[in-house]
Amino acid sequence: MTVDLYEKIWMIVAAVLIAGFLGAIVVAAGMQAVQPPSHVETIDPEAVYDSEEFSRPGVATLEDGGVVATVVAEMFAFDPDPIVVPAGVPVTFRITSPDVMHGFQVVGTNANAMVVPGYVSEFTITFQEPGERLIVCNEFCGLLHHEMQGRLIVEEATP
Ligand code: CUA
Repeated sequence: MTVDLYEKIWMIVAAVLIAGFLGAIVVAAGMQAVQPPSHVETIDPEAVYDSEEFSRPGVATLEDGGVVATVVAEMFAFDPDPIVVPAGVPVTFRITSPDVMHGFQVVGTNANAMVVPGYVSEFTITFQEPGERLIVCNEFCGLLHHEMQGRLIVEEATP
């Protein structure tokens, strides 16, 4: 069987691409510890408001000076709203949902998390600039998804 030179080239290119994509999955999933949500903190979505932490969402300052913002995302609002945090301090966001999947994105920053019922999404970020920022839900969560937004107020840190 003779295979045309150009066809051979295309076959090689396709094989290299497939190998490259499979390799990227292996690297991302295995070597860089990108894990599916089953590896993160879980919570009973029906007991969100019974939990010590999420029954009183809000912003708290820890003894070591770190700040934790506990947030509930539900149809179609974020609680608390506004979320008030200090500037120049690492803020750890802990977010969960009692109903459906939501998003939590602080516009203009890389604070962005998917909020999945049954899981606690956590990330830490430092906002350097004081000011007010918009929080949007970036996962379609129902008829009023487009209305689901909140405010983040970054306050000048008190000396
Ligand atoms: Cu919540 Cu879209």
